[in-house]
Amino acid sequence: MTAAVKSSPRITSQLVNGILAIKPLADLAKNRARNMMIKRAESIGVYWHDQVQALRSRSDSASSQVSSQVSPQWEQELAQVQSANLTYPDYYLRMFHAYEDGNLSWDAAMEVEVAAHAVHARVWPDSGEQGDMRLRQSYQTVLQEQINTAPQNILDIGCSVGMSTFALQALYPQAQITGVDLSPHFLTIAQYRTEQRERGEDYAIQPSLAPSPDQAAQIPSPTWLHAAAEATGLPDASFDLVSAHLLFHELPQSAAIGILQEARRLLRPGGHIAIMDMNPRSEIYAKMPPYILTLLKSTEPYLDEYFALNLEEAIEQAGFQSPTVACNTPRHRTVIARVR
Ligand SMILES: C[S@@+](CC[C@H](N)C(=O)[O-])C[C@H]1O[C@@H](n2cnc3c(N)ncnc32)[C@H](O)[C@@H]1O
Repeated sequence: MTAAVKSSPRITSQLVNGILAIKPLADLAKNRARNMMIKRAESIGVYWHDQVQALRSRSDSASSQVSSQVSPQWEQELAQVQSANLTYPDYYLRMFHAYEDGNLSWDAAMEVEVAAHAVHARVWPDSGEQGDMRLRQSYQTVLQEQINTAPQNILDIGCSVGMSTFALQALYPQAQITGVDLSPHFLTIAQYRTEQRERGEDYAIQPSLAPSPDQAAQIPSPTWLHAAAEATGLPDASFDLVSAHLLFHELPQSAAIGILQEARRLLRPGGHIAIMDMNPRSEIYAKMPPYILTLLKSTEPYLDEYFALNLEEAIEQAGFQSPTVACNTPRHRTVIARVR
C-alpha cells in the first residue's frame, strides 16, 4: 500500500477546479485573492505598500515614490546566495501565490513577510497582527512538548525569507541552524535580515519571536543554502531536527515523499522530523465556502495533492516511527516523528 493517494476531490472542489481551468477566471480569482490579502494587511496595521517599498529600496522607511524597481544591490547579493548548478524541479517553475514567476521573483520575495502577517491574521478570530507570531509560538509549544533533548543541528526546509528559521533560533538559541530553499530571491532577503539582526537593527516586520539585540549577538546566525529539500547535498546523519513549516502544502506528492526520504538520510539516530502545515482534517477546510476555496486554490497549485496525501503513512514508509499529530491551531497540525 502506498501513502500517495490520488483520491478524487469532493464535488465542490471539482467545481472549483473546473472554474480555475478557465484562464481568465483563474486570473480573476488570483487577483481577487491578492487584493483581499493586501486589504487585510492594511486593516491590521501592516502597511503592505510602505513596507514592501522600503525593502525594495533598502531604506528604513518607504520613499514617497512607488516603484517596481529593486535596488541593484539585491541582484549583487542574489548572485552570492545562488547555486549556479541547481536545476529547478518542474513543479516549482510555475505560478504560486498569484505571482506569474512563482517564488523565483523579487515581487514574491519582497512581499513574503507582509503576506504571512495578513494570511495568519485569520488563524484565530481575534488574532489580527499577532496571528503570525501566535502560529509560530503554537509550533514551538508542540516542539517543546515532544522533543526532550534540545537539538544541536537543525535544518529548516522551505525556509523562505527566514521567518521560520529565526523562530527556531529563538526556541533553540544554542543550535546551529541551516535554512534551505529553492528561491534565491527569498534567501537573499533571509541573508539581509540576518545581517540586520547581527547589527541589532529593528525593522518594520520583525520576525516573530525575535530575541533582543543583546541576545541576538550571542546566538549563532543561521546559514542559508540554495537547494531542493529533496536533494540538499548535505552529509548523511548531520542533523538532530529537520523542520518543515508551511512547506508541504506547496508540494506535489512525489516531492513530499522525496523530501521525507532526504530528511531520514540527514537525521542522526534519535533525530526528529517536524512538519507544521494546514490540517486537511480541519472542519474549516471541509466547510469552506466554494468562493473562498476558489480564491485559496487559485494561489496554491498543489493543495489537492497535499490534502490527499496520507502524511503519517508516508512518514513511516520513509523510515520513521509512528508520528504524533497535534492540532496547534484550529486549522494547522504539527506532525512529529523520530527516526526508526
Ligand atoms: C509557504 S513558504 C514557507 C515559509 C517559511 N517556512 C515560513 O514558515 O515562513 C514555502 C517555501 O518552501 C519553498 N520550497 C518549495 N518547494 C521546495 C523544495 N522542494 N525545496 C526547498 N524549498 C522549497 C518555497 O520557495 C517557499 O519559500
